[in-house]
Amino acid sequence: MYNSKITGLGFYVPENVVTNDDLSKFMDTNDAWIQERTGIKERHWIPDGSEDSSAIMGAKAARIAIERSGLTSKDIDFIVFATLSPDYFFPGCGVQIQDMLDMKTIGAIDIRNQCSGFIYALSTADQFIKTGMYKNILVIGAEYHSNGLDKSTRGRGVSVIFGDGAGACVLSRTEDNNKGILSSHLHSEGKHADKLIVASPSIKNWVPEIIDSKGKDISYFPYMDGTFVFKNAIVRFSEVIMEGLTANNLSVNDIDLFIPHQANLRISQFIQQRFKLRDDQVYNNIMNYGNTTAASIIIALSEAWEKGKIKDNDLVVLAAFGSGFTWGSVVMKW
Ligand code: UT7
Repeated sequence: MYNSKITGLGFYVPENVVTNDDLSKFMDTNDAWIQERTGIKERHWIPDGSEDSSAIMGAKAARIAIERSGLTSKDIDFIVFATLSPDYFFPGCGVQIQDMLDMKTIGAIDIRNQCSGFIYALSTADQFIKTGMYKNILVIGAEYHSNGLDKSTRGRGVSVIFGDGAGACVLSRTEDNNKGILSSHLHSEGKHADKLIVASPSIKNWVPEIIDSKGKDISYFPYMDGTFVFKNAIVRFSEVIMEGLTANNLSVNDIDLFIPHQANLRISQFIQQRFKLRDDQVYNNIMNYGNTTAASIIIALSEAWEKGKIKDNDLVVLAAFGSGFTWGSVVMKW
């Protein structure tokens, strides 16, 4: 059995920065509330007229990751693309990447697991490498939230937290069993699907029906029961981190860097306090990017790596929780 490790990573966010003060120009919100409740100072939103989309941002991040891995796009054997905001209802973004990066006619799949999408994507890629089927897999997380948000005061409880962006990594085969992904742990609890959801358009409620409702049906905007999601997040985050550590006979003290999905700084801080982690053991960047859902962990991982915060042999733990509900963790030795 082989092992898999990240050999290159990178991220891309649109240049356009939207501050909390900018948001208060079109909805009843303010910088103090957003910072106190979420930790977010600003996010990047694709501006009107830009060519960027989830697939295009994913391709930009992927080019950086592939170059840093020392490979070319022709060396990639498979694509795993995590997003909840694909360019098309179908086909998925993964196949667009195959074309945009002029790759061989390799397989491509999209993962639709929202905030834990990147954990699911990484875990999926890891299994293909561990079994020996593929050598180099491109794993992408990308989200284009800003065009789908309710930017009126009605949507302020949800819309202020989301940002656009993409991250990517190349996961490659290694025969060193002490390096790379040690284990991944995935969970779901579908009975809470309606607590964080974009319900339409769906085949059950297609576009003409929404138009017929003359503005009454707003189920195409994200809905979140924020308090309920928050409470579940802190429980599931804690469980799945411990599950990952226990599976590898490790303890919290062994963690060199913990990168949580950037949902809300208060969730990250709660986990940090619960596990008594020092500030240098946790990486957060939600302040500058907001919640980029499937992109958040890989953007944070890339940025932490670029800042030199991850060294050879470091134990890195990734964990996420979100819509579905779905949650998961990845434990890796850098
Ligand atoms: O990433 C996937 C998983 N997602 C999460 O884990 C997110 C989990 N939930 C959260 O992060 C938080 O619940 C939110 C940040 C979304 C909301 O924070 P909250 O502390 O739960 O606020 P709330 O929704 O309970 O609202 C408290 C008050 C309300 O006013 P009243 O009823 O107390 O008068 C809201 O109307 O704050 C008001 N409010 C706002 N005020 C200013 C809600 N949103 C805003 C806003 N600006 N943007």
